[in-house]
Amino acid sequence: MSEIRICGYRPLSGEIKIQGSKNAALPLLAASILQKETVRFTGIPAIQDVYRMAGILESVGCRCKREGNGLTIDASCLKGAKIFKEDVGKMRASILLMGALLGRLGGAETWYPGGCSIGSRPIDLHLMAFSELGADVREEAEDGKILATAARLKGAKIVFPFPSVGATENALLAAVLAEGETQIWGAAREPEIVSLCDFLCRMGAEIFGAGTPRILVKGVHELHGTEYEIPGDRIAAGTYLAAVAAAGGDARIWGAPWNGMQEVVGELKRTGAKVEPMPGGEKGPQGIHIRMAGRPKPLSISTGPYPAFPTDLQSPMLAVLSRAEGISRVREKVFEDRFKTVKELWKMGAQIEVCKEEAVICGKHRLHGAEVTARDLRGGAALVSAALAAEGETKILGCSHIERGYEDICRDIRALGGRIWAAG
Ligand code: UD1
Repeated sequence: MSEIRICGYRPLSGEIKIQGSKNAALPLLAASILQKETVRFTGIPAIQDVYRMAGILESVGCRCKREGNGLTIDASCLKGAKIFKEDVGKMRASILLMGALLGRLGGAETWYPGGCSIGSRPIDLHLMAFSELGADVREEAEDGKILATAARLKGAKIVFPFPSVGATENALLAAVLAEGETQIWGAAREPEIVSLCDFLCRMGAEIFGAGTPRILVKGVHELHGTEYEIPGDRIAAGTYLAAVAAAGGDARIWGAPWNGMQEVVGELKRTGAKVEPMPGGEKGPQGIHIRMAGRPKPLSISTGPYPAFPTDLQSPMLAVLSRAEGISRVREKVFEDRFKTVKELWKMGAQIEVCKEEAVICGKHRLHGAEVTARDLRGGAALVSAALAAEGETKILGCSHIERGYEDICRDIRALGGRIWAAG
């Protein structure tokens, strides 16, 4: 899909089931190689990044089998510890295989992932964690190769100066089979960290304190196969909630994880949306119900590590606030280059000024359709929300970015009554 067309300015109403979480699935797939049997996932999102990660697992000897939204990974014949350069280029999350390969095989060879369209995204904290665990880490400056080896990793105290999600995941992946205890201080607290720890424990790992800034890992000798259901995608759910907040309407998002979305729900309520959990059983709410009438109220928000407002929903929120009744402020505290979408929103009539890490949005009564380009995954999703709220037709180019994270954004928006078509 290279292009999406949207005819906006009509409320969204209906219900959808949210896809499995991309950011939960990728570290879980990496973790699956820590055991020598078979793991079976359900709720796997049908998106490019997941297919790519499964492809990389196959390149190191795993057998992967997809059936509907299930994925079985047989890691009994894992053979290689080398990740190909072209795979790293296509998907930054492949760096998570480094911790898992080190843990399982005592060695890993990969490539520096380089910059990305939302910011510089270094991996110094990942490599620091491996070194603390006793790995010999070498970076070959000329071609960007990274090699890590260790006869057996040894438990250690790892102190992160910033709660990086990926570095915390890599530290966990490397530590579960290490000898002795590992303490991770300054750990990220995202729900995806909790699901990774939950999955590792189901394979036999011993982890305490997941979801807090201090995680304790007691190394074990071996892990075993298991089954696991990928949780609902809080960022995809937040994207659709934002679309309703921007365009108005009444929608039920089944499977949206209420408990992991409190900050987002709080901000959406402050825009004037009525947001409620959908009653559930023992497992808690079954989803989120949103109703929005009229223009959003302005907000002042700041992104940050969980439980703060997620940086991944900053762009969709810009789309909402572009229609607000007044002036809003959005501060981006995680990735320095997340405001690229602003120039595209300008083409639709949005009035936004960016100064360093802050965007000031002067809400407009009306946005209008235009030809715009998705510059990154979440920025592309924000353009969909803005287009749904705008008068006239919008053509969004560069939609392969959107496909990296959303199973079928056109299917979901159409289920809510939106007029949207994919082309190319
Ligand atoms: C993950 C998510 C991404 C989300 C981000 C923050 C996945 C696949 N991706 O990305 O969608 O936007 O968390 O919630 O789960 N940093 C360093 N050194 C490091 C690592 C990170 O300085 O070694 C910095 C980054 O440049 C950035 C900040 O830490 O400024 C946050 O990055 P991090 O939490 O690591 O994000 P990712 O794991 O890459």
